[in-house]
Amino acid sequence: MSLPTSLAELTDLVDFNQRSLLISAAAIAFNPTFWNIVARREYRTKFLTRLFGGNRQAACYALAATIFSLGLIRDFLYERALRDQPSHPALEGPLVNYAAYALLAVGNLFVISSTWQLGITGTFLGDYFGILMDGIVTGFPFNITNAPMYYGSTMSFLGTALLYGKPAGILITLHVLVVYLIAIQFENPFTAGIYAKRDKERAQAKAAGKPYEEKKEL
Ligand SMILES: *[C@@H]1O[C@H](CO)[C@@H](O)[C@H](O)[C@H]1NC(C)=O
Repeated sequence: MSLPTSLAELTDLVDFNQRSLLISAAAIAFNPTFWNIVARREYRTKFLTRLFGGNRQAACYALAATIFSLGLIRDFLYERALRDQPSHPALEGPLVNYAAYALLAVGNLFVISSTWQLGITGTFLGDYFGILMDGIVTGFPFNITNAPMYYGSTMSFLGTALLYGKPAGILITLHVLVVYLIAIQFENPFTAGIYAKRDKERAQAKAAGKPYEEKKEL
């Protein structure tokens, strides 16, 4: 039994008539779209902070809880989609299982350790709320990759696909990767801009001999 060698062969191994596949793909694309729209609107209008009576910390935690819940729903829909798909014998056997567990372990390690490094507000778009990090985090896992959250999540998707022995899961993982690469392209320049603005204000305050204070008002 040989592994599928091309994308064309891979698509033969996927049951595209299952609606659950489309729903899973849609949920995967929806989540980053949702959090980017909400976070940019928060940055421009502070609508969430206002909703929470001016408490940006509480507003950010609420968004974090929402994003986390959406992630659980997305994972549920992914597993449901995988169950509706055909298995492939080439994805069975102990070696594939070891690879699956390794991917799940490293993927979760990346996600958990980066959350640990950044904290909840640092992980969940706190910068858009005006809750900025003091400096760039360079410790593990950020010394391996600059987007451990996204690559860790992608690894978990692939690990789950292998664990279930479903070629469709590999295809969905490619979709995840594309969605995340687009998200990174979209998010990184914006966050860099937020920090550049803070650094400029800091430098100006220093030049004027004043202590730098983060804006507290809305
Ligand atoms: C990243 O940091 C970890 C923990 O400090 C260290 O063990 C590891 O060797 C580092 N990796 C690289 C590629 O620098």
